[in-house]
Amino acid sequence: MTQASSSAPNKKRIAIIPGDGIGKEVIPASVQVLKSAAASGGREVAVTEFDWGADRYLRDGTTLPSDAVEMFHRDFDAILLGAMGDPRVPTNVHAADILLGLRFKLDLYVNARPCVLFDKRFTPLKDRTEKDIHFMVFRENTEGLYVGMGGNFKKGTADEVAVQEDLNTRKGVERIIRYAFEYAKARDLKRVCMSDKSNAMTFAHDLWQRVFKQVKAEYPEIESSHQYIDNLLMQMVRDPSQFDVIVTGNLFGDIASDLGAQLAGGLGLAPSGNIHPGQVSLFEPVHGSAPAIAGKNIANPMGAVLTAGMMFEYLGWKPEAQAIVAAVHAALREGKTPAELGGSMGTRELGDWLSSFVAKAGVR
Ligand SMILES: NC(=O)c1ccc[n+]([C@@H]2O[C@H](COP(=O)([O-])OP(=O)(O)OC[C@H]3O[C@@H](n4cnc5c(N)ncnc54)[C@H](O)[C@@H]3O)[C@@H](O)[C@H]2O)c1
Repeated sequence: MTQASSSAPNKKRIAIIPGDGIGKEVIPASVQVLKSAAASGGREVAVTEFDWGADRYLRDGTTLPSDAVEMFHRDFDAILLGAMGDPRVPTNVHAADILLGLRFKLDLYVNARPCVLFDKRFTPLKDRTEKDIHFMVFRENTEGLYVGMGGNFKKGTADEVAVQEDLNTRKGVERIIRYAFEYAKARDLKRVCMSDKSNAMTFAHDLWQRVFKQVKAEYPEIESSHQYIDNLLMQMVRDPSQFDVIVTGNLFGDIASDLGAQLAGGLGLAPSGNIHPGQVSLFEPVHGSAPAIAGKNIANPMGAVLTAGMMFEYLGWKPEAQAIVAAVHAALREGKTPAELGGSMGTRELGDWLSSFVAKAGVR
């Protein structure tokens, strides 16, 4: 999952988009920790902040500027985003323009969502430990039901018809399935499970079946399996230890990875990457803007901090990534936890604690 960067190996240019709600709290904590890790590793990060989100949209109508995609390709190695969504914008138009716009226009076809339990105290599953919950969900990120194809007929009447289309291309399905196998191969992981609903969605998901059959034949050393999405969700709860890598479509991956996040301790702990291998990619915590708890300094910043670690790993800064993960492990071990995990640490205080832990422990 690493990128051949266009900039100097010891200096990375990171675009920061805190966004809305708790994004504006967890991203500063994350930036504090990533700067600490970079400095400890003798590296340099140049961060540039963008104020895109509901406030800006309500002020002057800006969502994703027309030159943004070109700028990110030209001037940045990666993007770190908080969350988008604000009750003052009920249509969510700014969020769709910015987040889905970046995913689609930067062609970030891999949504990588690791589900890793750091401490057995935090899983809601009985008698499960760290070794049982350790898998990756790869969600196709540029197609499926999220492309916005469809429409309404006779909207607002009793005869209304609403259509939302599930778009799947041969190229799109193949590249995400292949990425899942390549990821497993590079890490010596033994199992890849593809999930769809081909028993009911007999056109679109039949394509997934045929492509999976073809691609898996190229990786005979990896045990490949298939589960319908309803069964997959049940199996994730029944026995999560059966999974190393799950690969699925956009909607199903969105749902499965939220379930996985909860199995691993909660949304506030879950990181993710939106990736186009070898190109500028976008990293964000899995959670949304959580308006009900925004502005109270109680959001868990660990997901955003781990997201920075994922970003560093992608950029080839593995020791710094490991230092960030080690700091979160230490915080959980020492009970330095926010309300979500039963503790009382504030978002800012936890950012301070994690960054000074990284600075003290150093990068090895
Ligand atoms: N990628 C994104 O930007 C993204 C993802 C999901 C939802 N959203 C948006 O966020 C808004 C709220 O959506 P939602 O409520 O469905 O999802 P959410 O993730 O914001 O919140 C779900 C629940 O988890 C809690 N939670 C989430 N993150 C937390 C954290 N870091 N620490 C502690 N608790 C946390 C919330 O308080 C809430 O109870 C909506 O506008 C939605 O569209 C954005």
